[in-house]
Amino acid sequence: MHWSSKEKLFPQLLETYYLGGMASGVQPKVVIERAALLQPDLIIKTFDDEFPLLTVNEFVCMKCAQYCGLPTPNVWLSDNLEHYIIERFDTDEHGNKIGIEDYATLMGKSGDKKYLGSYESILKATAINTQSIHEVEKAFSLITFNCLIGNGDAHLKNFSVQYDSDMTNISLSPVYDITHTIIYPTVDKDMALKLKKSKTYPNRKDLIDLAFDAGISRSKAGEIVDNMAQNIQQCIQDIAEIEAMPNLKQSILDHLSKVMTHFPMVSPYRHKKRKNTNNPTFTLRNTLRCLIFLFILSGYVKPNLTTQSRQFMSSK
Ligand SMILES: Nc1ncnc2c1ncn2[C@@H]1O[C@H](COP(=O)(O)OP(=O)(O)OP(=O)(O)O)[C@@H](O)[C@H]1O
Ligand SMILES: [Mg+2]
Repeated sequence: MHWSSKEKLFPQLLETYYLGGMASGVQPKVVIERAALLQPDLIIKTFDDEFPLLTVNEFVCMKCAQYCGLPTPNVWLSDNLEHYIIERFDTDEHGNKIGIEDYATLMGKSGDKKYLGSYESILKATAINTQSIHEVEKAFSLITFNCLIGNGDAHLKNFSVQYDSDMTNISLSPVYDITHTIIYPTVDKDMALKLKKSKTYPNRKDLIDLAFDAGISRSKAGEIVDNMAQNIQQCIQDIAEIEAMPNLKQSILDHLSKVMTHFPMVSPYRHKKRKNTNNPTFTLRNTLRCLIFLFILSGYVKPNLTTQSRQFMSSK
């Protein structure tokens, strides 16, 4: 995306569109509605001195989310890196509003309580409101993505559900506002919400436990976490824009390997440990098992049976 004027774009956008429609949040942004341009509604974000190149950071993270298969709106980065543009997902192709509710509202909390809660409660609220394990899996995937990418600002207002036009079906909205926050020195290095009663970033096992407690099998959760870790790695190798922000690639990689500690990120995930039948201990153990079985059959060894099974055996 290119802007050729010598004048700065963002102040002009502010002047023209500031009152045209507001999106809340702390990052400087304007909303451009479709009545003004022959294109979908857009939100344009820029950055200030505290968070340099937040535009590049958010663009890269959204591309990684796309690689991970999360539902993402179209996004663009301006050539001069000053503007990050995201298509609005709360209007349909005819310009009609789609009902969106963030998790603070869904849980009956005011906006200033957006950092008070847990990722467990997000999964619980998803299950209660959507009655769908598929949506719970989507919420778990988004939580996992935030943990892996190092987004310490994944608070209650950065998760939303959307409603069908007849308000019958409720599902997770596309994702938004994802950045690798831990690269900024003024941002604290913890997460926005608690997981297992702590705001410290979890490891792979903690994430699998979180999923399991929400009704997702451990093997499915492991698959989600491992696929995401690999897709993020792939994305940051592929995407040229990442080079525009010094140290972004290395910082994401360092964080990713911390969360995935003790787990090899590059080799594909194996569900079951394959047994090494050439291992002498394995062979000896099996030979002993066979011998004990043969002794039981021939009556040399009496297994420790319960009273019920003794009665059952003697009645035969
Ligand atoms: N693509 C989008 N379509 C529709 N609504 C959106 C979109 N992106 C963001 N929003 C809405 O606008 C709000 C503010 O946007 P966003 O979270 O990106 O801003 P922010 O300033 O980075 O917020 P924060 O206070 O979390 O740092 C979001 O909470 C969400 O409700
Ligand atoms: Mg936000």
